[in-house]
Amino acid sequence: MSQLQPWENEEYVKYTLWFIFACVIYSIIGFSWGALMGGIHEFRHFVDHRLHGNLIVRAHTHINLLGWVEMAIFAAVYYIVPRLVKRPIYSLKLVKVHFWTHNLGLIGMVVFFTTAGLVGGMASTEVSPAEVEALVKPWLRTMGIFGSLVLLANCIWAYNIFMTCRKPK
Ligand code: HEM
Ligand code: HEM
Repeated sequence: MSQLQPWENEEYVKYTLWFIFACVIYSIIGFSWGALMGGIHEFRHFVDHRLHGNLIVRAHTHINLLGWVEMAIFAAVYYIVPRLVKRPIYSLKLVKVHFWTHNLGLIGMVVFFTTAGLVGGMASTEVSPAEVEALVKPWLRTMGIFGSLVLLANCIWAYNIFMTCRKPK
């Protein structure tokens, strides 16, 4: 049997595959979301015409971009970089932190973009625009906290890739 290369660590391969599985799952959710949003007249009308209803489109956008697109890119970069530089990844622990932080941040962003859109859109027929703003604000703030987690995850990823590529002393 041929010997495993240092970058073919079992745990590393597992996490790289998890990025791919997550990408597939988010793509199914994101594409279905788009199909329902475009196909159901009442849904389309809600997101296009109710106050803050478009935040539900932001949820669709971000599940596709941060889920389907970014997850695929992360998996590809984790696969390619160690092979290019012929070294294992700098920190396997940071790969795991990246995976969980990104997923948690992304799910939180999508949940709270949607909540803010639903709360705003439903309230807009009952109360004044100023009251709608006040109702939506805390949900958007929470979305921002989860968004910051996504940003943190990206920085962790960038650091790990940079350290992997850096020439050892
Ligand atoms: C089967 C797949 C998809 C369907 C059916 C779909 C459907 C839709 C629909 C109906 C809207 C417009 C909602 C509205 O404002 O009335 C929309 C918006 C959007 N979608 Fe998708 N989508 C799909 C996949 C994707 C993917 C893969 C991405 C990105 C990678 C994406 C990115 C966006 C963006 C950025 C917008 C917002 C455009 C804007 O604000 O003007 N969508 N999508
Ligand atoms: C740290 C992660 C991110 C946060 C917190 C974030 C936050 C936001 C917010 C708050 C908006 C709405 C702006 C508005 O309607 O006034 C927005 C729009 C948008 N973002 Fe992001 N974003 C993030 C990452 C990304 C990434 C990585 C992409 C692309 C790969 C992206 C693509 C877009 C697009 C295309 C729009 C406008 C179109 C739409 O949603 O309809 N975002 N983002």
